[in-house]
Amino acid sequence: MRLTERENSILRGAEGEGAALAMEILAGIGEAMEADVFVPVARAHVSLSNQEADLWFAEKMLAGGSRARICATVNPGFDIDYFGGGGFASDRNVKLTERCRAAYKEMGFILNFTCTPYLDGNLPRLGENVAFSESSATAFVNSVVGARSNPESAQSALCSAIVGLTPRYGLLLEENRRASVYVNVEREIADEFDFSLLGWAAAKKIGRNVPLFRGGFRASTEGLINLGAELNTAGRVPLFHVEGVTPEAEFARRGTGTIRELTVTDRELAEAEEKLLGTAAGAEGVILGCPHYSLSQICLVHRRLAGRKAGIPVWILTSAAVAAQISRLPMGKDLKESNVTVIGDTCVDQPCWGFLRGKRLLTDSPKCCYYTARRELNFSVMPLARCLDAALGKDAECNAG
Ligand code: F3S
Repeated sequence: MRLTERENSILRGAEGEGAALAMEILAGIGEAMEADVFVPVARAHVSLSNQEADLWFAEKMLAGGSRARICATVNPGFDIDYFGGGGFASDRNVKLTERCRAAYKEMGFILNFTCTPYLDGNLPRLGENVAFSESSATAFVNSVVGARSNPESAQSALCSAIVGLTPRYGLLLEENRRASVYVNVEREIADEFDFSLLGWAAAKKIGRNVPLFRGGFRASTEGLINLGAELNTAGRVPLFHVEGVTPEAEFARRGTGTIRELTVTDRELAEAEEKLLGTAAGAEGVILGCPHYSLSQICLVHRRLAGRKAGIPVWILTSAAVAAQISRLPMGKDLKESNVTVIGDTCVDQPCWGFLRGKRLLTDSPKCCYYTARRELNFSVMPLARCLDAALGKDAECNAG
């Protein structure tokens, strides 16, 4: 890689030990990926976890005097007051989370603890280079916003936040953002669950390509969030285009010549749905918000419940900012009375949910079901309306599986 004078001086330690290490790591990645130069980034998002290895790295960077020099947000861990105070999280996990928070706070990160940071202030613009980790967030900013990010790890995004640079390769290059496969979708994709289903069903067929989806789409922001989340749970698709919807879709088809086409049939979607959907019978709790629910998704839950009380607990995960907004609205009181708890700062894939181990749970998110299986959380997946019907005791026998 060709390094500028400033970049070389960071490497030699002019901006501290932590910045030198960050630069060395990024230069190593750049060399491995055949990047030519570094480019500046003004935003980063770090998929922190409270696990020992991530914490070790964050504390090492802090000890080296590292500070975030750009707008840098972080993924959720868990709400210490709710889970620690309620005795759900062990002392050890609370301590790890506190140390993690302290390290990132000291380094000047914005502790918004959300996996939808673009809904919470960290929104890049079309064509902007950024360094985002968290697979659903990377897919969203690349595909729906048209910003440019490689699928960073927590560590590489942290390094970029410290030096304000990322190596130029992969999805930062225009030629790698063009479609390499057309994906024709037979079924009209309209509601948010359809988008999840499409992502889940199409990921393996797409492989490592950049897809351009074609068909009938009635897209919402939340539907597109779900599409990116599931494409990157069932597969690895950090950039996708949707004809007539995403900003680079027209550009993506230009100059591609003849490329492979594949079709996601109505039958394949029905089969994926049949495999995914589980039974609501005997459900003991519902978790929504993987990825974090937006304000409008929580409004929808409120409208659907219409003042009725769920017979089993319903948790909604969202950003702390949205949770605070909800608590100030009359809706906040209504949701509490309906047995719904809105929690900020929290990911479903955290040890704080251990108290639900072995219980029968419902979610509208295939990603939630997939990642929590290793924690022995037993989720059935179904659309939001059916989750809520089951929570209200209206759908106890629903079983599409
Ligand atoms: Fe967000 Fe955690 Fe799901 S980071 S996308 S709630 S696995």
